[in-house]
Amino acid sequence: MMFQAHLDSLFLLTLCLTTGYGQEGKFSGHLKPMVFSIYEGQEPSQLIFQFTSIPPAVNFQLTGETDGIFEIQPNGFLYYTKALDRETRAIHKLQVTSLDAHGRTVEGPVPITIEVKDINDNRPTFLQQKYEASVRQNSRPGKPFVYVNATDLDDPATPNGQLFYQILIQLPQIDNIKYFQINNKTGGISLTPEGAWKLDPMQNSFYSLVVSVKDMEGQSENSFSDTTSVDIVVKENIWKEPEPVKIEENSTEPHPIKITQVRWNEPGAHYSLVELEKLPRFPFSIDQEGDIYVTEPLDREEKESYVFMAVAKDEHGKPLARAVKVYVEVTDINDNPPTCPSTKTVFEVQENERIGNPIGTFTAHDIDKENTVNSILRYAIVEQSPKVPNEGLFLIQSYGGMLQLARQSLKKQDAPLYNLTIEVSDHDFKTLCPLQINVIDINDQIPIFEKSNYGNLTLAEDTAIGSTILTIQATDDDEPFTGSSKILYRIIEGDSEGRLEIDTDFHTNAGYVKIKKPLDFETASVYNIVFKAENPEPLVADINYNSSSFATFKLILTDVNEPPVFSQQVFQARIPENAAIGTKVGNVTAKDPEGLEISYSLENNQKGWLKIDPVTGEIFSTGQLDREVQSLYKVQVVAREKGGSSLRSTASFHLTLMDVNDNAPRLAKDYTGLYLCHPLKALGSFILEATDDDQQPLRGPQFTFALGSENLQKDWEVSKINGTHVRVSTRHTNFEERMYSFSIRISDGSQPPMARTVVLPVTFCSCTEDRCFRPADKQPGMPTVGMAVGILLTTLLVIGVILAVVFIRLRKKKGAGSAEGTQRSEVRPLNA
Ligand SMILES: *[C@@H]1O[C@H](CO)[C@@H](O)[C@H](O)[C@H]1NC(C)=O
Ligand SMILES: *[C@@H]1O[C@H](CO)[C@@H](O)[C@H](O)[C@H]1NC(C)=O
Ligand SMILES: *[C@@H]1O[C@H](CO)[C@@H](O)[C@H](O)[C@H]1NC(C)=O
Ligand SMILES: *[C@@H]1O[C@H](CO)[C@@H](O)[C@H](O)[C@H]1NC(C)=O
Ligand SMILES: *[C@@H]1O[C@H](CO)[C@@H](O)[C@H](O)[C@H]1NC(C)=O
Ligand SMILES: *[C@@H]1O[C@H](CO)[C@@H](O)[C@H](O)[C@H]1NC(C)=O
Ligand SMILES: *[C@@H]1O[C@H](CO)[C@@H](O)[C@H](O)[C@H]1NC(C)=O
Ligand SMILES: *[C@@H]1O[C@H](CO)[C@@H](O)[C@H](O)[C@H]1NC(C)=O
Repeated sequence: MMFQAHLDSLFLLTLCLTTGYGQEGKFSGHLKPMVFSIYEGQEPSQLIFQFTSIPPAVNFQLTGETDGIFEIQPNGFLYYTKALDRETRAIHKLQVTSLDAHGRTVEGPVPITIEVKDINDNRPTFLQQKYEASVRQNSRPGKPFVYVNATDLDDPATPNGQLFYQILIQLPQIDNIKYFQINNKTGGISLTPEGAWKLDPMQNSFYSLVVSVKDMEGQSENSFSDTTSVDIVVKENIWKEPEPVKIEENSTEPHPIKITQVRWNEPGAHYSLVELEKLPRFPFSIDQEGDIYVTEPLDREEKESYVFMAVAKDEHGKPLARAVKVYVEVTDINDNPPTCPSTKTVFEVQENERIGNPIGTFTAHDIDKENTVNSILRYAIVEQSPKVPNEGLFLIQSYGGMLQLARQSLKKQDAPLYNLTIEVSDHDFKTLCPLQINVIDINDQIPIFEKSNYGNLTLAEDTAIGSTILTIQATDDDEPFTGSSKILYRIIEGDSEGRLEIDTDFHTNAGYVKIKKPLDFETASVYNIVFKAENPEPLVADINYNSSSFATFKLILTDVNEPPVFSQQVFQARIPENAAIGTKVGNVTAKDPEGLEISYSLENNQKGWLKIDPVTGEIFSTGQLDREVQSLYKVQVVAREKGGSSLRSTASFHLTLMDVNDNAPRLAKDYTGLYLCHPLKALGSFILEATDDDQQPLRGPQFTFALGSENLQKDWEVSKINGTHVRVSTRHTNFEERMYSFSIRISDGSQPPMARTVVLPVTFCSCTEDRCFRPADKQPGMPTVGMAVGILLTTLLVIGVILAVVFIRLRKKKGAGSAEGTQRSEVRPLNA
């Protein structure tokens, strides 16, 4: 057997090493308590240890749990004759005694312990060939509903006995969704989140799983395995959201009243309700059957619907499943009578108004559900007081509530006011509301201004909005505090943009003229305003407003100094980067609303490339512009009023620099480390890449390459690869082992053309494995021959020192080792 062969050679090797350290080593020593660890299943006839004893000992005796496996020879060799089996006995407790020629004890008995170490020699086995289980639809994911269980005789403290469970197959497989999962350590099978969501016994109620168990934690190719099958029945979940409930408000039944129910799948659950919104009181309860009650009459006008959660918990108070929502809608009954307007309603009618004229609209309210019979209102006049000259002077529209004159015009001497009682009714209730109608004088007087001209007023254009700038007054001799004498002021001329407004004080009929929108001197500096005073009620026939109802007023605005205004917020200009110093690159203009002179300046002119003429706004270059440094140059231009307040404003000036060919091409990389191996076996070559900092045409740079000087031609040759790359080749192989100076001229194809000659060192050097060893001072950071040798020597020196230290320590340890009470040693297995 291969196994055997390996073991023997390892054993021999360790023995040899032992003898190297003398007689008292790992595998032999004086009789004393010891512990040995031996892997089970190893081939027998193995030496464990050789004991020695003091004279006159000539023999050894072995007792204890030898199980016929362990033996000791007279010369003290302890060995075993059969493979050990940890599963039979994990620890053998032995005693060794040394005897003299007459069989008398010389030393001992000394305890010797053999620990049998585990190897993976046992398969895991499922306790059942087949498992059957059931699970409720929507069960909590991750909560096991069945355990599969396998055993393995190997040591559970080692990977050999550590089991790993896995679901191999799920049947049926629908859309490749895994409904079940297994805890790889405990074998507990539970639903996956998808399983909890999607399993539906109406669609499929039977599933079958093939589950495997592996030892070695399932992580080794050498692990043993076993499989079992698990048949699962999916049962319907009766724990679900109940149908929404409707409860009629203001119920007179005795409470609590059962409204709906929830049921957990098994008996014995504990139910509770959880509020979702904070309520002054929560009018629902649940009993331990899962029946849900409303505990008191509800009021739709207070709250129209309720949502809360029902929870089922187990005896430990843990939720059995996710909570379900319960929806309750409160339905309306007509339990609220119509209500009158909060303040007494008063309408006015002029003496001479005609039959049918509308007087006003009366509106009552009902808080029952709108647009239902419970809240649609009907109006009727049930009483009129006084009843002079007739009853029924007024009409009200049944559903709209609009009041009209029914029979004739009214006269104030008949009655100055009428009290009406309006009956407002919904389907079930009637409410009586008062309504007063005042008969007022005819509007036969016009408002007359106290003066026809309010003179002139000078205001700053930035006067605050809302400021009252003028009070005007007109009077009306009609009956006070009626629509015939109230005055509404309007501006009929001079304020087409509506910058002013007029509020009337209805007690005094004074009009307050206010600023409604900002005034602007630059738009209009003088307002010639005409006011008109009017009544809300129409004038009687033959009476008209005349010029006494009009007044004039002149508003004069004064200018407030405002900052200059640029014609644009961003000015842009383009110029070639090589433009001469002093070139005009652009100009800006700003105007002052007040016409003041302006002085220009620049800010953020970080590179100092530009200057501005303070008077004309022209901008000039002052330095050498460079697109390769900055292609878009941005500065702030400032316009400042001259003199006085020197208000200022700013704008941006963006100068785009256009590329011109002002950069010579150069090499794209650092080529100073070029080398070729000496001696050259064949023609050598290398590739160089060139680049250019100028902006390149779309087809890319097109460089031309040439040798830097004529006398290079005998050694070198250049051949262009493409627009950027060139190959440099040697013409022969006879180079010396030294550095050559090589130069190349690169030209771009632009206008004006630019060229550069680059000088490069090329080293011919001895190579080892395609690495060049060059003189140490040439290439910092690269190991050279000298450095390499140095590093090697240092390394050897360090190793030497370490070896010496180890050697000395080992010698010391040998001396100390024999004094220890119990030594541990180990016979190593092969497959570890
Ligand atoms: C598996 O079976 C073993 C042996 O019967 C038992 O000790 C262990 O508790 C079982 N494990 C489970 C998870 O049932
Ligand atoms: C075993 O399960 C644990 C969690 O229960 C997980 O973290 C681990 O990755 C699993 N091992 C393997 C190999 O899948
Ligand atoms: C319930 O209805 C009665 C009449 O049906 C009413 O008087 C009472 O105000 C109502 N209660 C509520 C809370 O609406
Ligand atoms: C109208 O009602 C008011 C009280 O609201 C009362 O003072 C007045 O005398 C009544 N007038 C008539 C004519 O009934
Ligand atoms: C403003 O009124 C004053 C006198 O009330 C008058 O002298 C002056 O000329 C008026 N100014 C304008 C611009 O009408
Ligand atoms: C306007 O009419 C009133 C009477 O309605 C009269 O007193 C006043 O003089 C008239 N004004 C003018 C300017 O005619
Ligand atoms: C620059 O100046 C010229 C003439 O002075 C004027 O026509 C033009 O509008 C100015 N440009 C700007 C951007 O102000
Ligand atoms: C030019 O040739 C070099 C080397 O063959 C190559 O890496 C590079 O991509 C080429 N460039 C173009 C633009 O073809």
